[in-house]
Amino acid sequence: MDIQILPSLLAADHGMLAAEISRAFRSGADALHIDVMDAHFVPNLSYGPDVVSLCRRVEPSFYRHVHLMMTRPDLYLKVFADAGAQTIQIHVEADCDLHVELPRIRELGARPAIVLNPETPIEAVFPYLAMCDEVLVMTVHPGYGGQTFVTDCLPKIAALRARAPRIDIMVDGGINASTALDAVRAGANRLVAGSFLFGQADMASAVSSLRAVCASAC
Ligand code: DX5
Ligand code: ZN
Repeated sequence: MDIQILPSLLAADHGMLAAEISRAFRSGADALHIDVMDAHFVPNLSYGPDVVSLCRRVEPSFYRHVHLMMTRPDLYLKVFADAGAQTIQIHVEADCDLHVELPRIRELGARPAIVLNPETPIEAVFPYLAMCDEVLVMTVHPGYGGQTFVTDCLPKIAALRARAPRIDIMVDGGINASTALDAVRAGANRLVAGSFLFGQADMASAVSSLRAVCASAC
């Protein structure tokens, strides 16, 4: 399966967001991961649709994945689709009916994806696999960047890959060259990395190093 590397904008220098979006684009990464936090679903606030439209304005061809860490993502799907979200990721733990909202994401012109937290069993997403293109397996407790990868999540990735051989499996949280290898060996094919990528002066080399690690696992 194709491997994708996605810098997480949460780890960017927010004092120069436009330049950071361009730096991520020029690094050769495949897409941008944009974390939206509502201070209710997670104990942190980040940014909203204006930042998604900023990303579209600054680098129109840089694909935008929007990870909604929100209790009621259903109330904001159209707002984010209109702002330029191309994949919209909603949590299985959110307070809405995913049987309704995942198809609605597609109707809004975006790719639907489902996310699960580290403590949520993988079986929780099984009823929705036919209506989403991607599953994002959180490998940290959502809310903050720079946390340590939860290795207990690896068997969930393997179980999902066995159940859905063709689906895109993304991992998010604590990804570096070492944990990337573990995640890809378990069956992941899309890697989000925040602090590991934005923390390097030469992001292009860091993206290349992750690609090399992934190639060695395939
Ligand atoms: C955490 C976010 C992640 C975060 C990852 O709630 O969903 O996308 O930015 O950051 P790192 O790669 O630093 O763990
Ligand atoms: Zn995220």
